[in-house]
Amino acid sequence: MDSDVAARRMLQTIFILLLIHAISCGIQPSEKRELKEKVLEMFNHAYGSYMDHAFPADELMPLSCKGRYRGSEQSRGDVDDSLGNFSLTLIDTLDTLVVLGQIDDFEDAVKLVIQEVTFDTDVVVSVFETNIRVLGGLLGGHVVAAYLKRVKKGMLWYNNELLVKAKDIGERLLPAFNTTTGIPYPRVNLKYGLCKVNSRTGVEKDTCTACAGTMILEFAALSRLTGDPIFEEKAHKAMEFLWKQRHRSSDLVGTVINIHNGDWVRRDSGIGAGIDSYYEYLLKGYILLGDETYLNRFNTHYDAIMRYVNQGPLMLDVHMHKPTSNTRHFMDALTAFWPGLQVLKGDIKPAIEIHELLYQITQRHNFLPEVSSD
Ligand SMILES: *[C@@H]1O[C@H](CO)[C@@H](O)[C@H](O)[C@H]1NC(C)=O
Ligand SMILES: *[C@@H]1O[C@H](CO)[C@@H](O)[C@H](O)[C@H]1NC(C)=O
Repeated sequence: MDSDVAARRMLQTIFILLLIHAISCGIQPSEKRELKEKVLEMFNHAYGSYMDHAFPADELMPLSCKGRYRGSEQSRGDVDDSLGNFSLTLIDTLDTLVVLGQIDDFEDAVKLVIQEVTFDTDVVVSVFETNIRVLGGLLGGHVVAAYLKRVKKGMLWYNNELLVKAKDIGERLLPAFNTTTGIPYPRVNLKYGLCKVNSRTGVEKDTCTACAGTMILEFAALSRLTGDPIFEEKAHKAMEFLWKQRHRSSDLVGTVINIHNGDWVRRDSGIGAGIDSYYEYLLKGYILLGDETYLNRFNTHYDAIMRYVNQGPLMLDVHMHKPTSNTRHFMDALTAFWPGLQVLKGDIKPAIEIHELLYQITQRHNFLPEVSSD
């Protein structure tokens, strides 16, 4: 989707490739320990530097080693829409701290989020980014905090403060869903919503498929945890609409959709930027909620992708209404998420093949480039 997510996926891919390489070469327990320590060292370098030099800013600027606040630096365009003056990196890191076993750091981080982060700010943010990183980060943090408290491993003082914050940000995203299609606006003003004169947004006509189709996990979790059904209903309706707009003979969806009338604005269909996480959320939506509607939709799209987009060894975009003709002759780096999704589905052989291809590309360039072609 955007460069942060892309960078994270790239890091994940590289880490997995390192791991697979190590495993296939017969990894020794000592090497395993070294790799584990390397990962922890890299994480603590990044997180520690953010906390030392940037917090409470949203991001650390790696060259100047200063914090990046929304509007305080020269604009980078859409990329800046993920910054909301809400200590983005800290919130985004919460559950990682627990996964890595750093419970004391987690406890400190949660306290800082509770004390320092506010959302009543006159700032226009990306609905997609704020959902996956801020709402998702708060909910992930809440779930692990409640777990640690229950098993008495920490957080004994915790009293659902992160969930209260999650509901606050969730409510600030809701105005974006006020369209006839139920497909959300791409941006919302955290303080003024969409309608009011002050909001400086609400004029957009279209959004990407992933932007509309990557809400259900966080919004359903928020509804189930708070008992307020509105969030799940909104996300469910957006998913419903995307499904209805699929091409009825190819079963593919396009990349950009008009949020008011549902027409496809870009009819190219693939698995990379602009669509990627729609598929991910269909399958994970089924896993989280147990609703087979999501599984059936995922399987239908999956079969269509394997029939048309999969052009072994590459995955290439096609026209959704004319799926035997290509719209692009290169793959973007976001494709790296696909084999992981295939493993989750249980389709191991094609996952290994695409992984091998990405591994070869990474070997050749020492990194996974933003786009690659044969
Ligand atoms: C974000 O915070 C910085 C530093 O406090 C401030 O200069 C800037 O005006 C804030 N931006 C918004 C949109 O509130
Ligand atoms: C939804 O939009 C309509 C018209 O665009 C507006 O009149 C109404 O107040 C909005 N509702 C909310 C909850 O924002």
